[in-house]
Amino acid sequence: MRILGIESTCDETAAAVVENGSDILSNIVASQQDLHERFGGVVPELACRRHIEVMLPVIKKALSEAGTTLDGIDLIAASFAPGLIGAIMIGLSCAKALSLATGIPFIGVNHVEAHLYAALMGNANPKFPCIGVVLSGGHTSILLMEEIGRYRLIGETQDDAVGEAFDKVAKMMGLPYPGGPLIEKLAEEGDPNAYPLKIGRVKDKPFDFSLSGLKTGVLYTLKGQNKSGIAEMLTLKEKQNVAASFQRVVFEDIRQKVQKAAEDYGASTLLFGGGVTNNLALRNYLTAKMPHYNLIFPPAALTLDNAAMIAGLAYHQWQRKKQGDPFHLEPVSRLAFHLAT
Ligand code: KG4
Ligand code: ZN
Repeated sequence: MRILGIESTCDETAAAVVENGSDILSNIVASQQDLHERFGGVVPELACRRHIEVMLPVIKKALSEAGTTLDGIDLIAASFAPGLIGAIMIGLSCAKALSLATGIPFIGVNHVEAHLYAALMGNANPKFPCIGVVLSGGHTSILLMEEIGRYRLIGETQDDAVGEAFDKVAKMMGLPYPGGPLIEKLAEEGDPNAYPLKIGRVKDKPFDFSLSGLKTGVLYTLKGQNKSGIAEMLTLKEKQNVAASFQRVVFEDIRQKVQKAAEDYGASTLLFGGGVTNNLALRNYLTAKMPHYNLIFPPAALTLDNAAMIAGLAYHQWQRKKQGDPFHLEPVSRLAFHLAT
């Protein structure tokens, strides 16, 4: 079954053709980083305009790289949630219009669920139930995954998502958006124990994350270095040390909660997804600290927002439902992950 996937929930316009859930024939991503970096975050209006401009060329490229046309497509899938409403609407409307014009069925996919599914698109060998861990710019969740499509939420963030915390800490140091990769780079040369930052805890919710205290801790650490203008007056060494100390806390926070979830729920396979899993230091840290578990990360091309994961997950939704979604499926900005499909 050949599926065209379309993704436009945030600041990436993407299209891909995937066969039978895992065989990627094409995976085209048009990043908007150039557009948003100077604003320190995604500007929704600009994101929407760019999606409109590049959506059709991106779809055409995905079809031609896959050596096919719409005639060779069996299902059209698009993310319908969660994300920026205007941005989602562009990919979703495009998918519906193509479906209406061609008669190819259409299906809506939950973007966050697809991030987790991305880990299963490599040479994965999961043993269900698994613990699923989503670490992205908008979401931080720990789930019990009984099978593809069946989840129970175990923990989530009470405030900032992990990727968001990376981006905000970077912004405090005067770095452009997205800050995650820049923090990772700085941290390589930094001392992780330079500053006594601490893991945030949520009362009576051992699996929930709270990153706002850590963010404030970083702010005070930076202010302590130079009392006023923060970014301008920091030395490179100070930035490196702050980045390394911040990562030390975030990595250990994730490790503790994820390992406890695996122990409590009797899971030996841990699936990771979302943009923060792009961080190699995080992968190495978790792999070294949890040698008795099977940790599965997405292939490099599938960590950040992409449409291959959308087309991949859509295959399983189709296998379950054997039908597409109605055209009145609306974009949803926030959606409970475990109720997704
Ligand atoms: O999954 P994603 O592409 O978009 C969302 O669905 O949110 O994740 C984007 C997030 C951004 O916050 C970005 O800073 C973070 O992933 N990120 C990283 C790294 N690469 C991307 N965070 C830490 N280290 C990285 N190397
Ligand atoms: Zn994403």
